[in-house]
Amino acid sequence: MKILVVSDWIDQLIYSEKMKYRMKDIDIVISCGDLSFQYLDFIMSELNKPLYYVVGNHVSRRSFKKNEFGDLVSDFPKCFKNLHLKHYKEDGKLMAGFEGCVWYNGGPFQYRQWKVYFYLLKMIPRLLFNKIIYGRYLDIFVAHSPPYKVGDREDPCHTGLKAFNWFIKVFKPKVFLHGHVHLYNRNVEKVIRYYETDVINCSGFYTLEIE
Ligand SMILES: [Fe+2]
Repeated sequence: MKILVVSDWIDQLIYSEKMKYRMKDIDIVISCGDLSFQYLDFIMSELNKPLYYVVGNHVSRRSFKKNEFGDLVSDFPKCFKNLHLKHYKEDGKLMAGFEGCVWYNGGPFQYRQWKVYFYLLKMIPRLLFNKIIYGRYLDIFVAHSPPYKVGDREDPCHTGLKAFNWFIKVFKPKVFLHGHVHLYNRNVEKVIRYYETDVINCSGFYTLEIE
């Protein structure tokens, strides 16, 4: 399965009339956040492939609302599939995700470190189900923030989420896709091996193939 991952900024190689020819062998599109739904809509309509996403910490006020528990939830069009704390199986690949980043100024989709552990614990029943039925917990984990000290930065906004380190060690996804930390240089290494997982910075765009 070939995946196009986009994140953080509009890349002119993607926002182009030639993109559908360059990316014609793509099977699914994933957004790691901080992108408008207009941009995602462009990609989806050009490629006509399923699009999964998590939101980042930069979300327009019109793109989220409060649910009955007072939590913020993204309000993107329903044609995009929100991976936040959800599980999907696409072309045999097991996918899940977590939105936002670490709390730094009280803006939307910012989470205290301890609270991320709390939310990820809720995913355990389905992960165990995957292990029993499919022989593995997860193939693809999609986040906006990187794990702590694995491709993150030291400033308060770009510090990684510690719960992700625990999650990767225990549930061993094949790949952990994230954005948030901007890497503008196309030649810089974007993949960090962490235990049994490739942690990939997908800021701008990144393509990968999963067997
Ligand atoms: Fe971000």
